[in-house]
Amino acid sequence: MEEKKVIFSGIQPSGTITLGNYLGAVKNWVELQDEYNCLYSVVDMHSITVRQNPAELRKRCVEFLCMFMACGLDPEKNIMYFQSHVSAHAELAWVLNCYTYMGELSRMTQFKDKSAKHSDNINAGLFTYPVLMAADILLYQTDLVPVGVDQKQHIEITRDIASRFNALYGDVFKIPEPYIPKVGAKIMSLTEPTKKMSKSDPNPKGFISLMDDSTAIAKKIKGAVTDSDGRICRGEGKEGIENLMNILSSTTGESIESIEERFAGRGYGEFKSEVAEAVVECLRPVKARYDEYIKDKAYVESVYKKGAEQASRIAYKTLNKVYKKVGFVPRAR
Ligand code: TYM
Repeated sequence: MEEKKVIFSGIQPSGTITLGNYLGAVKNWVELQDEYNCLYSVVDMHSITVRQNPAELRKRCVEFLCMFMACGLDPEKNIMYFQSHVSAHAELAWVLNCYTYMGELSRMTQFKDKSAKHSDNINAGLFTYPVLMAADILLYQTDLVPVGVDQKQHIEITRDIASRFNALYGDVFKIPEPYIPKVGAKIMSLTEPTKKMSKSDPNPKGFISLMDDSTAIAKKIKGAVTDSDGRICRGEGKEGIENLMNILSSTTGESIESIEERFAGRGYGEFKSEVAEAVVECLRPVKARYDEYIKDKAYVESVYKKGAEQASRIAYKTLNKVYKKVGFVPRAR
């Protein structure tokens, strides 16, 4: 790789890619692809911390990769691959597990949320999830991690683990920084605007999937929960409207201030129609490209094969260094 800075980010192939994932993460990945050396992974190993149907998971992984490309990620410019195809992720995660404390893992809000939601399956993988995520990032000597706000805590623990390891063994890992967009970093549920939009929400009215057609998108936005105050502005109790303003701003580039000004004195119906139209227009080309990629199995395969090969080469350099530092005997040649 040339001297550009490195970006790593990933998405779990659970549920369906939502507008939240797009505006909070993938849209930025697309914007950053020329300036950085980027690796984007469908993190299938993370997704099995919650039970998955194997056939569906396999299908979804390919769909997510096609969606990456449909959103505008160019496989010639970025390394795109399935996490399970680069075994260095699991190997580094094991080592880092031995440098991570139970106390710090038990403070992770995603662990607390997920163990409350899946109380029948609080497995060790769910608990050590942030360590695998740290391995994902640290393997590539990553400078920047573009994510939504909900992942900030995981980047912080990654930094802590990396600094702890470096303090013991010298400069092994680059300390990564989060990259969180100003608008769109936390898109809320359309039915419960105090909760984030989630791809595993059992109520499909709460999220917009990038796979939804125009009619479904318009219907969901028109049905979005708001308030009875009637003003299109930010403020206490205005989470629903604020969320729609963020969606409009993030899809069109118009500032929140300008939206507030333009809609002063106008009604929610008119406002929601404009938000719906903006989202439909934003996703129309994505959907069209997706339909092409998903049909081209051979091409998609070539993308993830090449991606895994390129990623492995970089990852093993870091892993070998780590193995040497902790005292493992080098493989005999
Ligand atoms: P995941 O799969 O939940 O989400 C993928 C990305 O989408 C962002 N996001 C959102 N942004 C704005 N509004 C929302 N409602 C919203 N929901 C999700 C997330 O912040 C994320 O950037 N642990 C990660 C996956 C991961 C990862 C990594 C990310 C594994 N290893 C290494 C970065 C680097 C996760 O569960 O994301």
